[in-house]
Amino acid sequence: MTTEYNFIKACWGQPVDRTPVWLMRQAGRYLPQYMAVRKKCTFLELCKTPELAAEVTIQPIDYLGADAAILFSDILTPVEPMGMKLDFVPGPVFENPVRTQADVDALRIPVMEEDVPYVLETIKILRREFEGRVPLIGFGGAPFTLACYMVEGKGSKDFAQIKRMMYGAPELYASLMEKITEMDRQYLNAQIAAGAQAIQIFDTWGGIVSPLDYEKYVLPYTTKLIDGLNRDGIPIIHFVKGAGTMLKSVRKAGSDVVGLDWHVNLGKARDMLGPEIAVQGNLDPTVLYAPKAHIEREVKRILDENAGRPGHIFNLGHGILPTVDPEHAKFMVECVHRLSQK
Ligand code: CP3
Repeated sequence: MTTEYNFIKACWGQPVDRTPVWLMRQAGRYLPQYMAVRKKCTFLELCKTPELAAEVTIQPIDYLGADAAILFSDILTPVEPMGMKLDFVPGPVFENPVRTQADVDALRIPVMEEDVPYVLETIKILRREFEGRVPLIGFGGAPFTLACYMVEGKGSKDFAQIKRMMYGAPELYASLMEKITEMDRQYLNAQIAAGAQAIQIFDTWGGIVSPLDYEKYVLPYTTKLIDGLNRDGIPIIHFVKGAGTMLKSVRKAGSDVVGLDWHVNLGKARDMLGPEIAVQGNLDPTVLYAPKAHIEREVKRILDENAGRPGHIFNLGHGILPTVDPEHAKFMVECVHRLSQK
């Protein structure tokens, strides 16, 4: 695989002249430029208007100097046309959560070109815009994280509804997961066909189950999803938040890159995962609240833990927080570039 982009090279474990860096949720409310666009419409309208979605995707590239762009959308965008009424307040809320077999049967698999054309159009605009500058990452939620929102109907502290279904109605749970996995497969393949140059799968809630339950209820569907992607030349990044103790299981899903939150030491995680797989992430997002000297020390510590091994993409261990000073985010990117320069 030949590529000029450090981000793509690092995904494949190839050597780079400096460590590539981007930030999960890098387009968003911490940026005044984002708020200026966001004032004019709702979040969903922003996702559904390709020119605006493209504009806010570009903002952090211009401002931060990040090495990769991530499509502006949401993991729940393709769930709405499955037949679920979605709103953001600002967290996602479904009016009609999935609870019964009849609810699962009523879910349809969208026809991507007809039901989410704005996502594919945004990708096409961005590819033209970024050619030769930065690669574009497409993304989706892992089946389990999508199921959490679809069954709970919103964010949750205890995930009581999804766990009731998982343990108490395993066949219902399996039929829902199969349907979501197939939707996800088609959705991510449509993004690849439209021009996405890498795919990130976000499993924000994959760490809420025990390691044994992860293997039983979560991993099989993510594995099937990744296996069904047209991934030739397209690196797949798999981020499971809270998975520090079960990275060997996460690795089994078969991605090219494994995401790391900040509850795990990057050096130890790499030792556990082995040299064949790249890693991404690891900086505690709240470190961006710290004075610059502390941010610089933390960047250096993580680079030192990686100890020059190829296949490292610098990132936060989860999304950037809305109250972070954008200047601190920009400083973090500069530190990664300066301290890793060969
Ligand atoms: O810059 C980027 O990373 C691209 C855009 C992006 C958004 N959501 C935009 C967004 C991405 C990659 C996501 C993924 C996403 N969405 C995840 C997985 C990553 C993670 O953070 O764990 C999840 C769980 C969601 C669901 C979701 N969407 C939540 C829980 C919320 C509310 C909380 C929050 O952070 O705002 C959203 C809304 C959302 N998605 C916003 C943005 C910019 C804020 C909406 C607004 O402008 O009011």
